[in-house]
Amino acid sequence: MAIALAPTLVRGKPERMSVDLPVIDLSVYLKSGGKEGGDTCEAIARSLQKNGIAIVRDPRLPENLPRRFASLMERYFAQPDALKAPDARPKIGYQVGWTPSFIERAKARPDVVAKLSEGHKPTPITTADPKERFFAAIGKKPPTTRFDWLNAEPVMPAAFPEWYDITGAWSTNMVCTVHTLLEMAARGFGERSDLFTSFLEYGPHLLAPTGSNLAKYGTPGTVLAGFHDDLNFLTAHTQSNYPGLRAWTREGESFFAKVPEGCILVQAGQQLEYVTGGAVLCGLHEVLAVEAAQEKIRTEIAQGRAPWRISSTLFATASSDERLCPVGKFATDEALATYPGILAGDQVARELEAIELVRN
Ligand SMILES: [Fe+2]
Repeated sequence: MAIALAPTLVRGKPERMSVDLPVIDLSVYLKSGGKEGGDTCEAIARSLQKNGIAIVRDPRLPENLPRRFASLMERYFAQPDALKAPDARPKIGYQVGWTPSFIERAKARPDVVAKLSEGHKPTPITTADPKERFFAAIGKKPPTTRFDWLNAEPVMPAAFPEWYDITGAWSTNMVCTVHTLLEMAARGFGERSDLFTSFLEYGPHLLAPTGSNLAKYGTPGTVLAGFHDDLNFLTAHTQSNYPGLRAWTREGESFFAKVPEGCILVQAGQQLEYVTGGAVLCGLHEVLAVEAAQEKIRTEIAQGRAPWRISSTLFATASSDERLCPVGKFATDEALATYPGILAGDQVARELEAIELVRN
C-alpha cells in the first residue's frame, strides 16, 4: 500500500508530494519467525537504499502507547524552563536529559545545498534550533567502554511518577521494531540477518522526544530543526501531533513525510551509511512550522492549551566501542577507501562537536 501524502503548505506554497513510500507490514515475517516475508525484507532494503527512509507497520506496537508517550512528553516540555533545567547535562554534551532551545545547531552544508535544485533547497536558519529535546538513555550498558560519557545514567524527572513505566514500555517497543527492521533489511540485501544488528548490542540508544513550542515558533516557514542528517545508526519516529518533517530522497527531491497512524518511519543515520559503504545514504531532513498546522495551533491556544509539536523519536546507535566500517557485500575496495574504520564513539564525539552539543 502506498501512502497518499496530504498536501502540506509552507508559506502558502504547495510542496511536492510525489515520493512513493510504501507502508511495509512486518506481520508475515514476525508470525512465521522469519521463514516467510522475503518480499517485505527486499522492500525495506529497497526503500532504505532509494530514499534513506522506510515506513513500517509493526503489529506488536500497542495501540494507545504512542499517544500515552506523546502526552507525557507534552506535559514535560510544557513546564517552565526553570523546572527542566535540573535535567540538563551540558558537561556530557546533553547526551542524557533535557536540551534547551537554541543549543543544537545544524552543520552548515554548502556543498550539499549547492547540488539541490530550486524548490528543493533547505529552509535557511541563522540561529541554533528552537526545538527542545529530552534524551532518555535505554539499552544494555557495555561491560567496559572507552566512552563512559556516551553511556551515562538516565535522568528521571521527579515530577512524573509514570515516567519509568511509559518510557520503558515505549523504548522496548521501538527497539524491537528497529531490531526486526534491521534484521529484515540485512536479509533484503542478501546478507546474514545480524549484519546490522550486531553493531547495536551495547549501543547507547536514546529515546529522543523533541518538543517545539508552536505558540512561540509556529509561524509558517519557521525552522524548528535545521537541515541535517542524524549521527546515529537508525532513527525511528511515530506520527507527530503536528506536520512538518521535510525529508530528501537520494536524488535530492524534498517531500513532507507523513507517518500514518500506528506506523513507524525509520530514517538511515550516518552509521548505517558507513557500514553499507554508502549503499544506503543517511537521510537529510529538516523540521518546519507549516501552514497546515495553523488551525490546530489556533484551536489549542483558544482552548487554553499550549500547542507543542511533539516528535516521538528513537535514536538507535552503534555500540560506542564498535568499529564502524563497510561490512558483508558492502566491503568493496572503493567503499573501504571512502569509509575508513572509525570507532562509533569517536564518530559520535566528532559529530556532537560539529552540532555544538559538545563545546570545548
Ligand atoms: Fe534528525
